[in-house]
Amino acid sequence: MFRIVPSFALLLLLTVDPVAGADAAPYGRVSPSPDGTGIVYLDRETAGIMGHEGAGWLERPERFAEERPDLLMKALPLRSGMQVADIGAGTGYYSWRMAGRVAPAGRVFAVDVQPEMLALLAREMKKRKTVNVTGVLGTSTDPHLPAASLDLVLMVDVYHEFDHPREMLASIVRSLKGDGKLVFVEYRLEDPAVNILPHHKMSEAQVRREATAAGLVWQETIETLPMQHVIVLGKGR
Ligand SMILES: C[S@@+](CC[C@H](N)C(=O)[O-])C[C@H]1O[C@@H](n2cnc3c(N)ncnc32)[C@H](O)[C@@H]1O
Repeated sequence: MFRIVPSFALLLLLTVDPVAGADAAPYGRVSPSPDGTGIVYLDRETAGIMGHEGAGWLERPERFAEERPDLLMKALPLRSGMQVADIGAGTGYYSWRMAGRVAPAGRVFAVDVQPEMLALLAREMKKRKTVNVTGVLGTSTDPHLPAASLDLVLMVDVYHEFDHPREMLASIVRSLKGDGKLVFVEYRLEDPAVNILPHHKMSEAQVRREATAAGLVWQETIETLPMQHVIVLGKGR
C-alpha cells in the first residue's frame, strides 16, 4: 500500500498533458481526427487549415447559391466609412463585398496566415478594381490589426481552423472599438444536411461558449443563410 500510492501519483503526473491544466495554455490533446488537429479547446477539436492549393474551392461558381453572400451582406450592419476586417479572408470572396459596403472612405483589412492566399486575394481585388482592401499577414495567435479601431470583424468559415482560438479572440477583442462587433459565420453542426467535414462545422452553442470565454457578449444569431449560422457578439465593456 505504502509503495503503490506514490507510483499511482507518478503515473498521473506522467499521463496528464502538462499544458491542459495551465491557464496560460488551455489546450488539451487527443489523437487527431481525419479532419482535425488533435488540439482541443473547450471540448472541441480544432480543424486543419485549408491550404492555398484548395483556393479554387472558395471561388467555385455554385458557391453563391449555396451560401448566399448577398444575404450575409444584407444582414451585416455595414455603412460607408467603416473600418472592418475579414479574418481568414482566403481569396477575398467576402472582402470585396464588404469593401463595396464601406466605400469610399471605409477600409477592409483582409487577414490571412498564408502569403499565397494574400497573393491570390490581391489578384482578385485588382481584377475587381477594389482599392479599399488591405491584405494583412497574420500569425496563428495575432491577426496584426490596429488596436481599438474596428467597427466590425467578420470571420467566415475560419474560426474552427484557429489552432490558438483563445489568443486570436483576445487579439480581436483588442482591435474592436467599444461598440465594435465580431461576427462568426460557421456551417451548422446541428444540421446533418450540411455536407461539410465535421470539424469544419460548429454549433451555435459552442461558438457562444468560446466567444463568451473571451469576454464577448452575445447580441444576436441570424439564421437567414442556407447552411451557416451568423453569430454576432460585442465587447463586454
Ligand atoms: C476555409 S478558408 C475561408 C476563406 C474565406 N473566409 C471564405 O469564406 O472564402 C479559411 C482561411 O482562413 C485562413 N486562416 C486559418 N487560420 C487563420 C488565422 N489564425 N488567422 C488568419 N487566417 C487564418 C486560412 O489560411 C484560409 O485562407
